[in-house]
Amino acid sequence: MGVVPARTADTAVGASTGRPYVLLSCATSIDGYIDDATEQRLLLSNAEDMDRIDAVRAGCDAILVGAGTIRADDPRLVVRSARLRAARQAAGLPPSPVKVTLTARGLLDPTARFFTVGDADKIVYCATAAVDKTTALLAGLATVVDAGDPLDPARALADLAGRGVGRLMVEGGASVHAQFLTAGLADELHLVVAPFFVGDRRAPRFVGDGAFPWHPGRRARIAEVRQIGDVVLVRYALSERCADGRP
Ligand SMILES: NC(=O)c1ccc[n+]([C@@H]2O[C@H](COP(=O)([O-])OP(=O)(O)OC[C@H]3O[C@@H](n4cnc5c(N)ncnc54)[C@H](OP(=O)(O)O)[C@@H]3O)[C@@H](O)[C@H]2O)c1
Repeated sequence: MGVVPARTADTAVGASTGRPYVLLSCATSIDGYIDDATEQRLLLSNAEDMDRIDAVRAGCDAILVGAGTIRADDPRLVVRSARLRAARQAAGLPPSPVKVTLTARGLLDPTARFFTVGDADKIVYCATAAVDKTTALLAGLATVVDAGDPLDPARALADLAGRGVGRLMVEGGASVHAQFLTAGLADELHLVVAPFFVGDRRAPRFVGDGAFPWHPGRRARIAEVRQIGDVVLVRYALSERCADGRP
């Protein structure tokens, strides 16, 4: 992996082709909610599953979340396990994957943990209209990339491939997952179901309305089902690139 080390304003998205292997990761309640309607982050996974997610992160070159998730959850998005960080370093990789986000409006808090925790490079794909403002806001903290107007996730993926990202984990939120799924930009989905209901329509669901490539006439393939303590992981293969049995 030769991911961009720059921490300054960047040029427009290049003409690179192809995209990384894209793995979507999400935890829901039994009734399909990914959060509740309160300000606090809802814990859906359990400790054992968090360790699994940590290992999946450690196996990726970059982790992407939408700007909405940074605002709502203030995630760290770093590899927590010292053993896994050391293993990455022994392989010549940075301790944690590159952090990536998408924003149209550039409403990002420079003190958010996305920007302040860990030494990983941070890349912000930004719609053209907000690039100047966002570059100034995040000076010294992130590489801000002009990703067009409207911002096309496929272009961002091509740019990531050009920066050496071969495997990308997309950790939400609802809007980002829906876009990647409807655009056919996902190779694999890790869906964890927590053993409770949220039962509040004000809360966000996994995805909203959309024309998804998997529907009653085209059912997705299950690559794996695993019980992890009191949650269940279903790994859906969404492209031919997803091999059965791979963790
Ligand atoms: N249970 C789970 O596994 C899980 C995981 C992650 C998040 N969540 C939950 O998901 C919720 C957040 O989801 P969300 O849908 O509100 O937010 P989101 O998908 O994280 O981010 C949406 C924001 O990202 C930017 N964005 C996304 N696609 C874009 C595009 N194509 N072009 C330009 N900008 C784009 C926009 O930012 P700007 O508004 O800045 O323009 C948009 O408002 C929270 O409740 C969080 O707790 C749950």
